[in-house]
Amino acid sequence: MDLQFNRHRRLRQTANMRSLVRETHLHVDDFIYPIFVAEGNDIKREIKSMPGIYNLSLDHLEEEMDEVVSLGIKSVLLFGIPLEKDDCGSQAYHDHGIVQEGIRFIKEKYPEVIIVADTCLCEYTDHGHCGLIENGEVLNDASLELLVQTAVSQAKAGADIIAPSNMMDGFTAAIRAGLDEAGFEHIPVMSYAVKYSSAFYGPFRDAAGSTPQFGDRKSYQMDPANRLEAMREAESDLMEGADFLIVKPGLSYLDIVRDVKNNINLPLVIYNVSGEYSMVKAAAANGWIDEDRIVLEMLTGMKRAGCDLIITYHAKDAARWLREQQ
Ligand code: PBG
Ligand code: ZN
Repeated sequence: MDLQFNRHRRLRQTANMRSLVRETHLHVDDFIYPIFVAEGNDIKREIKSMPGIYNLSLDHLEEEMDEVVSLGIKSVLLFGIPLEKDDCGSQAYHDHGIVQEGIRFIKEKYPEVIIVADTCLCEYTDHGHCGLIENGEVLNDASLELLVQTAVSQAKAGADIIAPSNMMDGFTAAIRAGLDEAGFEHIPVMSYAVKYSSAFYGPFRDAAGSTPQFGDRKSYQMDPANRLEAMREAESDLMEGADFLIVKPGLSYLDIVRDVKNNINLPLVIYNVSGEYSMVKAAAANGWIDEDRIVLEMLTGMKRAGCDLIITYHAKDAARWLREQQ
């Protein structure tokens, strides 16, 4: 027999040979770990739909941060859970709001950790929308002013990166200008440039108590069916001065990650969101999947799709598993 074919298996014969030709590497430096800081005392409340993830008051932040740092994770993303909400989300831009205090606490005790501040209003508004409401509509330009105030107060508290997630048009331009004007021209903006209106945020909304009280977010977050529109969003944010771009959610949007990576030369972040985490945790708790292998395969897939960084609730576990593999 005179068959012509290639012997791909030559490069798969041993662990060392496979590692020699491995194209994608996952590293603890790739991870950004989200933390929910809650106003109040002695709060360590596990989020039902997100086993292992908690609402933490400041007095529990140190144990969490010690663990994060000991695992080699260098960056955290902070969300605030205030005690009081109102129609304009005033706790979002209060200089002593819970997220500002959380930032101060971490900056003081762990000065080398990169603190990313999520900049949005929905955790702080009683209606749960990401902007101001008038006649049942989410206002664009009026919301921008409040977002700028939020970003500046977070930068003042010591945030290293501002991450606006609210999907109003022009939020990156407004925040960039506002930071510059307030003397924070050195603080980068990590923009949630491509954020879809997704059912995968469900568990997060439990965690943050930020479910919209009426309607949905479809007038500002993107339609999951659209790919070309994602490039328009990403290009706008590049033009408006973003330093990083985020694509969110992760798993169902890896084609978008690849498109953005191929077309825009900025560090690219994927958000492996709450619903993606919950599905893995639920299946693992049932013994239906091998959690560590599944998680590392998913995270590797995200990097292979083209992202540079991954915001993930699995960060602590993944850091541990990567360490064990060495
Ligand atoms: C708020 C915000 C959301 C997430 C991050 N910032 C939720 C939303 O838009 O409803 C989702 C994160 C997750 O699901 O893990 N703007
Ligand atoms: Zn929001």
